[in-house]
Amino acid sequence: MFTCARTRHLPTNRTSNRPLGHANAVRMKIESSLPRPQLPEPPPHTGLQFAVATEEDFDEIMAMSQDIYGGLDYLPTRYQAWLQETNRTVILARKQGKVIALESVCVIDDGETVLVEGLRVAPQERGKGVAGVLLRFCAQLVKSKYPDVKVSRLTRDDQLGPKDFQKYRLITKQGILLVRFRAEDLKLRLAELGPDAGMSPTQMEAPMRLDPEEVHQLFLSSGLMRDVLPNNTIVQDWQPFKPLPSNMAILLKKDIDWMVDDPQRPTVVSLCTFPFHVPIGDDWYYLNIDVFGKDLSLVRQQFLTHLLRHTESLKGHIMCQVFLDPPLWEPLADFCRDTLRVELVKEYTEQCVVESDLV
Ligand SMILES: CC(C)(COP(=O)(O)OP(=O)(O)OC[C@H]1O[C@@H](n2cnc3c(N)ncnc32)[C@H](O)[C@@H]1OP(=O)(O)O)[C@@H](O)C(=O)NCCC(=O)NCCS
Repeated sequence: MFTCARTRHLPTNRTSNRPLGHANAVRMKIESSLPRPQLPEPPPHTGLQFAVATEEDFDEIMAMSQDIYGGLDYLPTRYQAWLQETNRTVILARKQGKVIALESVCVIDDGETVLVEGLRVAPQERGKGVAGVLLRFCAQLVKSKYPDVKVSRLTRDDQLGPKDFQKYRLITKQGILLVRFRAEDLKLRLAELGPDAGMSPTQMEAPMRLDPEEVHQLFLSSGLMRDVLPNNTIVQDWQPFKPLPSNMAILLKKDIDWMVDDPQRPTVVSLCTFPFHVPIGDDWYYLNIDVFGKDLSLVRQQFLTHLLRHTESLKGHIMCQVFLDPPLWEPLADFCRDTLRVELVKEYTEQCVVESDLV
């Protein structure tokens, strides 16, 4: 039998974005009125029990996530907020009472899509089909709880093979440029390069930062973003959204800097997610920038503008991920290495948004 424990609030620290559930933080528990989801019967003969994740599970989940993404796991920062999202359910699989796997399902796109995130299996349990069982269990849960959901979407950065493409349709892909630097060093380098760093020889207008009303106007005006967004998809920090009012409401609740070259005739748009702490070390942060558009000069200009803004206030080590149109990866990587003199962490990798029908 599964247990549906109560879901509770745990505020985050606004300056570091680190959940107060972190080891040294004071725990504050406030009862929440979120409904308790009903779970389907667990599949027989797997020896697994399923439960809705709660705040109390945080430490156990972190313990089984130690090796994930080379210390760059986003879940410690997101976990408490995830528990509060009314359109999201985080499911745990337990074996003999111990948490061995996690998956989150989040309903978006006016209730028609479920976004699968956070999937992980404890290292000692991998390769035994646990992920498959959990994925199918969560699909059943979504079907019974949200009958209008038609497709399941997820974003992957591992190498997809022919077997995967029998299961999934490719929605879009972006190149991933991962660079590392100390905020203080890059701040100095940017000052050395001066205001024209990375600009093309022709005079360029400075990109515009958008307020929420302008974001609405830009993304929901029919046709304006058709040639800019890949397959009409806004991918923000690994989450793919269709440009719909309900999704814009989700996105506008997040700490994001929205930027465009020209709001009337956009060529390049970028979304910079505010830096957040990652577990690799006390002063390590992730800075994620999603860029849409094909003009290298404009992409570089917006990338630099985001960097300038955030290196102003940041200290310590930064892992910066830029997601961009694949052909722009190489010239932007050269610019990072040769002009900004930051370290390239990985060669070219891809972020693939895929979907399958929920059957
Ligand atoms: C990826 C991971 C969850 C796979 O767990 P596992 O139990 O060893 O998975 P299995 O090898 O038994 O594969 C089972 C199913 O999971 C699917 N799967 C594997 N990797 C997946 C991924 N990254 N995203 C979604 N599904 C995945 C397989 O296609 C397979 O599906 P099928 O049963 O329909 O054929 C596990 O290796 C892990 O926790 N890795 C570290 C975290 C990570 O990389 N998570 C992926 C985030 S996109």
